[in-house]
Amino acid sequence: MIEFVDVTKTYEGGARGLENVSLKVDKGEFVFVVGQSGAGKSTLIKLIMREFLPTSGSVIVAGKDTARLKNSEIPYFRRNLGVVFQDFRLIPTMTVYENVAFALHVTGVASRQIKKRVFYILELVDLLDKAKRMPEHLSGGEQQRVALARALVNNPQIIVADEPTGNIDPEMSFEIVDLLNEINKLGTTVVMVTHQHNLVTRFNHRTLVIDQGILVADGRIGGRRAYR
Ligand SMILES: Nc1ncnc2c1ncn2[C@@H]1O[C@H](COP(=O)(O)OP(=O)(O)OP(=O)(O)O)[C@@H](O)[C@H]1O
Ligand SMILES: [Mg+2]
Repeated sequence: MIEFVDVTKTYEGGARGLENVSLKVDKGEFVFVVGQSGAGKSTLIKLIMREFLPTSGSVIVAGKDTARLKNSEIPYFRRNLGVVFQDFRLIPTMTVYENVAFALHVTGVASRQIKKRVFYILELVDLLDKAKRMPEHLSGGEQQRVALARALVNNPQIIVADEPTGNIDPEMSFEIVDLLNEINKLGTTVVMVTHQHNLVTRFNHRTLVIDQGILVADGRIGGRRAYR
């Protein structure tokens, strides 16, 4: 589902994002990405999203080499991806329902279909009763569940999440990962960046460890001391 072939990303000014990273993530896998601040975790996520191209090497996502996508193909390509960030990024002037529905409107789905789909997804993230609330009247964990609902509503093949639990309390963090686990069991591939060691040890998923742009470990490390 995702393949990096000898990928290096160097930023303007020379900062190293990633260096010679090769990896494969199969359909249906759940992968954690860990490493210290500045290690290159967000760079990896942005390469998957095709926010930019690698300086060298190739990034292949859902069968497409991101360097070969035409500009006109990028919006369609991104529909394969559901993206969740640390800071939720909800639209503050829209209700929960509208925030989720909006992601479907922009793809041109008929309105009856939209309603059905949005309610189905809100039920999945257990927010049906809060559909009419504004984001500012929700807890951090609830806001992140709205963001997750929005990421899921187009039925993407892959969910990429960059520190989705970074701004919410530990109990809620477990709930968010539980939810991602359920989504993963339905067949969606999940790549999730986290700083929280307790998540990595509690959920025994494959874990990529990045250090100064280099992939230094790749495997299941749940239950053991994994990284500092
Ligand atoms: N737009 C940019 N321009 C220049 N350098 C950048 C840019 N974005 C990131 N970098 C540098 O690339 C390296 C990797 O950054 P990245 O954002 O991938 O780290 P990270 O692992 O996500 O860190 P954090 O845990 O703090 O989010 C860092 O040294 C960072 O300073
Ligand atoms: Mg980051």
